Amino acid sequence: MEFSELLKIRQSVRQYQQRPVARELLDKLIEAVRLAPSASNAQPWKLIVVDDAELCHQVAQATFSKTVAFNRFAPEAPVIVVFVMESAGFVTQVGAMLKKRPFSLIDIGIAAAHFCLQAAELGLGTCILGWFDEKRVKRLLRIPGKRRIGLLVTLGYAAEGYPLREKARKSPGLMSRYNSY
Ligand SMILES: Cc1cc2nc3c(=O)[nH]c(=O)nc-3n(C[C@H](O)[C@H](O)[C@H](O)COP(=O)(O)O)c2cc1C
Repeated sequence: MEFSELLKIRQSVRQYQQRPVARELLDKLIEAVRLAPSASNAQPWKLIVVDDAELCHQVAQATFSKTVAFNRFAPEAPVIVVFVMESAGFVTQVGAMLKKRPFSLIDIGIAAAHFCLQAAELGLGTCILGWFDEKRVKRLLRIPGKRRIGLLVTLGYAAEGYPLREKARKSPGLMSRYNSY
């Protein structure tokens, strides 16, 4: 598949089949993240791939509540991947502080993009989740207290007939300029 085509078919999937995802495919997704670039090549991430049905369900429950219900679809996903932020090296951390630029968070975002694009190429759907109960997810997965979670990503085969949506995006003229702001 052309990369430009992959960019078009990758979309947030919010309805899944119950069909499990083979470990062989999960390994390919881990590899896609492993190859992602990061500030000073710090690779400040650890992926927790939750494919145990009961545990996955419990993690999914931590992504919505009665008041914030937009992730109510998450329990349908057979896999949830948790992007834990690992500490970057000292120099990168100091650089990030001095420049007031959260490199690790930027790195996690790039890693998640690698993950989602690779998944799309493999015929799998994903949805990045930025809204979740961090404490609860950490408890469920025994993530050490000091660690922060960057993002969660739901993963699975999209429901039968799940439509490919038009991309709702700003026009190139609104979101880009040549040579000055
Ligand atoms: C950092 C980040 C956090 C997001 N959090 C959520 C979320 O909590 N729930 C959700 O349904 N979608 C979430 N999304 C998905 C966006 O809503 C989605 O990417 C955007 O609307 C564009 O649609 P598309 O992914 O289908 O192209 C998140 C995306 C990003 C990059």
